Amino acid sequence: MKHLRSISELGSEGLHRILQLTENMAEINSRPVPKVPALRGKTVVSLFFEDSTRTRLSFETAAKRLSAETMTFSVSTSSVNKGESLRDTIETITDMGVHAFVVRHKSVGVPWQIAQWTNASIVNAGDGAHQHPTQALVDCYTVREALGTKDLSGIHLTIVGDIKHSRVARSNIQAFSMLGAKITLVAPPTLLPVNVDHWPVTVSNDLDSVLDKTDVLYMLRLQSERMAQGLVPSLHEYSTRFGLDDERVAKLPSRSVVMHPGPMNRGVEMLIDPSEIPNSLIHRQVTNGVSVRMAVLFDLLSAEELS
Ligand code: NCD
Repeated sequence: MKHLRSISELGSEGLHRILQLTENMAEINSRPVPKVPALRGKTVVSLFFEDSTRTRLSFETAAKRLSAETMTFSVSTSSVNKGESLRDTIETITDMGVHAFVVRHKSVGVPWQIAQWTNASIVNAGDGAHQHPTQALVDCYTVREALGTKDLSGIHLTIVGDIKHSRVARSNIQAFSMLGAKITLVAPPTLLPVNVDHWPVTVSNDLDSVLDKTDVLYMLRLQSERMAQGLVPSLHEYSTRFGLDDERVAKLPSRSVVMHPGPMNRGVEMLIDPSEIPNSLIHRQVTNGVSVRMAVLFDLLSAEELS
């Protein structure tokens, strides 16, 4: 595999391979010194044109644990502010000798465009509302770990909230479908994409009616920074209809798990403190993010066996 830009590019075989490799990486991360020489001599650049906390830091941690060199590109202090183009930026960094770009950008398709200007591998850390494949890998791995099974066929995944603007939802729908999950989307019509009829999902606008059939409840952040105009009448109404509170948590079957990719909007989609949710996987998602990104970087950059 040369690049990881979307779940469809990864394919079912690649998805299973990365999930398997993540188990090896999790074992490394459980050691007193979680570091192996696997990617010594490789350089990974993180190129984030959009804000990030967990994705950028987990990629950088992952690269370091595999002994790769890391470079961090900070847009706000770079020559982008002097008008340097994306192409010139990529070619300049490539000239320094790098093996992988981890890129996040507000425009859909940037990871594919960049691949034409460099020989390095490209990992998509989020392009607009399009794809965020490593988040989906994290989520599939975390559900398999929590449910104690590699077989997710037939499980009921309910994704709630701002589907329209969510690259996490798009990547997760593809990945969980490949693993055989049954997916329900719950959102107001204004926060659903126009082509949702063609997606392998069921759509509902009544959260309470689907809770008792849900194995995995996946809450999404309301992405106000991507909203051109008020797509919800009021935050209060949105929270009342689509927010997760203690009453809704109580309606979930006892085996159900709750997830959120972060960052959370407390008081909007999350009306309960996650520490009060019995089966919250929100912390496991962050922890597993490092192991998954180690697996991805290793798969892309290593020609050798893991030692
Ligand atoms: C998400 C993103 O940036 O796509 N966050 C993340 O990577 N964990 C989701 C979001 O911003 O709502």
